[in-house]
Amino acid sequence: MTGPKILTADWDKPQSWSLDTYRAGGGYQALAKALKMQPQQIVDEVVKSNLRGRGGAGFPTGMKWNFVRKETSFPKYLVVNADEGEPGTFKDREILLRSPHMFLEGLIIGCYAIECHLTYVYCRGEFRESAMARLEKAIEEARAAGYIGKNILGSGLDVEVHAVYGAGAYICGEETALLESLEGRKGYPRLKPPFPANAGGGLFKQPTAVNNVETLANMPAIVTMGGDEFSRLGLVPKNGGTRLYAVSGHVKKPGVYEAPMGISFKALLDEYCGGMRQGSTLKAIIPGGASSAVMTAAEADWASDFDTLKAKKTMAGSGAVVYLDQSVNMAQALANLMHFFAHESCGQCTPCREGTAWLSRLLDKIVAGKGEKQDVDNVHQIARQMEMKTICALADGAAMPAKSYIEKFRADFDALVRG
Ligand SMILES: Cc1cc2nc3c(=O)[nH]c(=O)nc-3n(C[C@H](O)[C@H](O)[C@H](O)COP(=O)(O)O)c2cc1C
Ligand code: SF4
Repeated sequence: MTGPKILTADWDKPQSWSLDTYRAGGGYQALAKALKMQPQQIVDEVVKSNLRGRGGAGFPTGMKWNFVRKETSFPKYLVVNADEGEPGTFKDREILLRSPHMFLEGLIIGCYAIECHLTYVYCRGEFRESAMARLEKAIEEARAAGYIGKNILGSGLDVEVHAVYGAGAYICGEETALLESLEGRKGYPRLKPPFPANAGGGLFKQPTAVNNVETLANMPAIVTMGGDEFSRLGLVPKNGGTRLYAVSGHVKKPGVYEAPMGISFKALLDEYCGGMRQGSTLKAIIPGGASSAVMTAAEADWASDFDTLKAKKTMAGSGAVVYLDQSVNMAQALANLMHFFAHESCGQCTPCREGTAWLSRLLDKIVAGKGEKQDVDNVHQIARQMEMKTICALADGAAMPAKSYIEKFRADFDALVRG
């Protein structure tokens, strides 16, 4: 395995999650350094780092924080998205399990940078007994050591951290649905603008940065090495740092791998995952979670950064990469995905509520061998009609795979239908 280890630096150490282990490796020194800087200086380093949000959209973190800083309304909030609902994604829970203090240090640095004194970590209830139990223990350790609470490290900074649990709805990972849920209402995405970073759009209508767990866990490294050096860890301009790739499918060694941002899918497969399993030939790659457009084996040399994949009409998303072999019929795979999207649509928008359910019914019909060629065309057409018409991106995230599976693997669909 190659490449620098930033987020996984401690993962092989005994009790990697303990405060002692973290401090033995230099933990919380970045916080001490950050507290001697001006908040705007920290944001400037984050801008230079070219860190892009690891939750899915790849929005530049420094830019988001500058939006919040420009607002004059107080209080301001930093809300952590630890919901990790995108199918195939299993990397935030590993950070919380193995290096909760790295995440907490990044969180407190972030709070200082945007002048927030009260932060919430929103997480699905399923993680309460595992990853979040570790985090809650780490919060107590950090509080006792003076890294959380009043007058942190004698700097005058006060920050309180609360863990909050949802009931495990995919839509509550969408940032505005998350805020609704956090405020005690049903997790319905909000119309934007106003965006969360702006007054009127955030938590309790206050300016709010919503950030993913992995995004924040990078802050100690950015403060320690500086934004420019962090940026150079990425292989593609404007895509800084390393990234945690959650790899599954028919590979020899599935798992969570830290690799330079922008590594090609071929290098990730061969150099980190040991290649495809015995007897498996690569057929398809899901590059960034279930919502991303699928790739063919011939496209495996594409870089995995946000901009390259956007230009190729798919997305880097949450870093969940699934390698599929020749045993998979892509119509069946899509039918499986569509059950999920139809079940998780919150139902506010007609194209999403009716569209995902309709796609799911049509795909079930095709997979059951009762479909016709026209049904395949209809799946494509319905998916196109769902795009860019809804309150949140769930509908686009269902349409993108639907279109691309048919465009790239039409033969798998035709093999199942009449006519
Ligand atoms: C349907 C849907 C589900 C999402 N689920 C998650 C999630 O589980 N975790 C996450 O960090 N972001 C998720 N996002 C992205 C968030 O809306 C938001 O972009 C992200 O939390 C921002 O943090 P970042 O800038 O650090 O990536 C989801 C988006 C959509 C549309
Ligand atoms: S696109 Fe779907 S999930 Fe998003 S708000 Fe509309 S109905 Fe709800």
